[in-house]
Amino acid sequence: MRHLIDPLDFTRAETDRLLSLAERIIEDPAAYAHKCDGKILATLFYEPSTRTRLSFESAMMRLGGKVLGFASAESSSAAKGESVADTIRMISGYADIAAMRHFKEGAPYVASKYAEIPVINAGDGGHQHPTQTLTDMLTIRRSRGDISGVTIGLCGDLKFGRTVHSLIKSLVRYENVNFILISPEELRVPGYILQEVIGPSGHPCREVRTMEEVMSELDILYMTRVQRERFFNEEDYVRLKDSFILTPEKLAMGKKDLAVLHPLPRVNEIAPEVDRDPRAMYFRQARNGVFVRMALILTLLGIENGILEEDGTC
Ligand code: NCD
Repeated sequence: MRHLIDPLDFTRAETDRLLSLAERIIEDPAAYAHKCDGKILATLFYEPSTRTRLSFESAMMRLGGKVLGFASAESSSAAKGESVADTIRMISGYADIAAMRHFKEGAPYVASKYAEIPVINAGDGGHQHPTQTLTDMLTIRRSRGDISGVTIGLCGDLKFGRTVHSLIKSLVRYENVNFILISPEELRVPGYILQEVIGPSGHPCREVRTMEEVMSELDILYMTRVQRERFFNEEDYVRLKDSFILTPEKLAMGKKDLAVLHPLPRVNEIAPEVDRDPRAMYFRQARNGVFVRMALILTLLGIENGILEEDGTC
């Protein structure tokens, strides 16, 4: 049985095949409409979510399956002190696959150790968010035809933004990726990402403080929200929250075929006028999230074979 807790749980080849499956689903959704008849997905969300939870649920429903779950820690027995290990052992009897979001780093990993069903990390604290990464990768692939060779500017809260951490982990496995990290000093990407992920890959990487100075170089601009809920004090958040705001004026400096991505929700970091620009991909990106999650559910349930290698280590 395989789980998806960290983007590296899937090899690059497995990831590429999964993205191809998502593209086949986009081409012909009717062919997949009953693949999960009789199957149940549990969404165990201990932290707020709109897109991730609903796109998981939509994905399972579009495959013909059913869903159950909870949308906050307060509405689950976690409020009574139940451990993640006990919850998942029980859920293993209620569902065939589970997606878990948790405010504690590592909670979905713990769940996977006790589960009798595949567990998917739907975001754990400021750590990882591998299904957002699949969504991002599919969006990059569909907007440029290829992931290799991309110059990507990651902008905003690179310290607490789990989508950024997971995306970098996945992108280093492709050829000729050029990383430009755009953040205030206080929200720089964590040291382990620089030293253990980007460093050994040999890919070029620069850290800058403004988006204007690099805008004309970028193929992808990946905007992120300042992660208020992970700050230790409100003053720091207020000081940093509007560090970067993408406006039509700034976007005018970008390439004609630039793609602007954002995992959403957006707060202030992209002016609404930018939405009309054809380079704004974030709503399309959110839609792609349903298709990659359909592909992931089919893969982890073993309904679509040939995506995962037989000797997978997870
Ligand atoms: C992201 C998350 O939860 O990490 N949202 C999402 O899943 N689409 C990004 C964010 O909350 O800023």
